Amino acid sequence: MSDALSPQPMTPNAAPVQAGPVAGARIIAITSGKGGVGKTFVSANLAAALTRRGQRVLVLDADLGLANLDVVLNLHPKITLHDVFTGKARLEDAIIKAPGGFSVLLAGSGMVEYSRLTPEVRTQFLSVIQALTPQYDVVLLDTGAGISDVVLFSVSLASEVLIVATPEPTSLTDAYAAIKVLTMQQQRQHVRMVINQAARPGDGRAITSQLQQVLDRFVSTQSGRPVRLIHMGDIPADPSVRDAVMRRQLLLVNTPGCPAALAISQLANKIETALLTPTA
Ligand SMILES: Nc1ncnc2c1ncn2[C@@H]1O[C@H](COP(=O)(O)OP(=O)(O)OP(=O)(O)O)[C@@H](O)[C@H]1O
Ligand SMILES: [Mg+2]
Repeated sequence: MSDALSPQPMTPNAAPVQAGPVAGARIIAITSGKGGVGKTFVSANLAAALTRRGQRVLVLDADLGLANLDVVLNLHPKITLHDVFTGKARLEDAIIKAPGGFSVLLAGSGMVEYSRLTPEVRTQFLSVIQALTPQYDVVLLDTGAGISDVVLFSVSLASEVLIVATPEPTSLTDAYAAIKVLTMQQQRQHVRMVINQAARPGDGRAITSQLQQVLDRFVSTQSGRPVRLIHMGDIPADPSVRDAVMRRQLLLVNTPGCPAALAISQLANKIETALLTPTA
């Protein structure tokens, strides 16, 4: 894996693409280097698991250009973030309840104007997040993949970053690149990892520590210390996931006892303990 992750020259983006985490809010960006690795699946089911634990959860479809959280949740919103951005609707009217009992704010798909980070998108996105976060215990941002301006901006608003990666070398190489950019541009001291579609128990921990070794060698934070990866769990490859997506149901509703659903519940437990339990 180390060869696949050998360092590439860093070309920092000239335009500032960050706002800094929104103060006082628990915002977790669920992001990835490579696309199609399970971000939306994790966001939706993690939201359901956290809701069951009594947390007030909002999932924001932060994949502004190519949103598909609505498809996974079988929702047909009349009002989306697009209508809020264009002043056609009020923010509170765009928030709907998902089947798992949590709130969602859907983006609407195919909006080419949101695939670029214009000053308008930046300002509107920030003000929406600032207005919403006080009403929830946790806001999950289901972001797009990669290191585009829009993705980096939405991730910059989050206090915590959860990278979803699969064990495939392409996914890990892209995860490495994303972590490198987040460390250098956003001064992240740590990044949380979940390995999805793991083949065997223990795979994710081994992969995360291999990735950590490469980061230790080639990427350091501003303080000079290496960025720390925190392994939050593994989700096994499980045919029930595809089945739930095809039925447009939450996995936690469709097959709550399957291995992937149990892994999501464990992830929720770990996130709650690490991030959502007030310290005395
Ligand atoms: N643990 C798993 N086991 C089996 N299949 C899975 C698992 N996780 C995800 N998948 C499959 O991968 C597909 C893509 O997942 P998902 O849409 O959540 O990815 P994504 O990272 O959000 O993609 P995008 O980058 O396009 O937003 C799912 O529809 C599902 O079929
Ligand atoms: Mg997605």
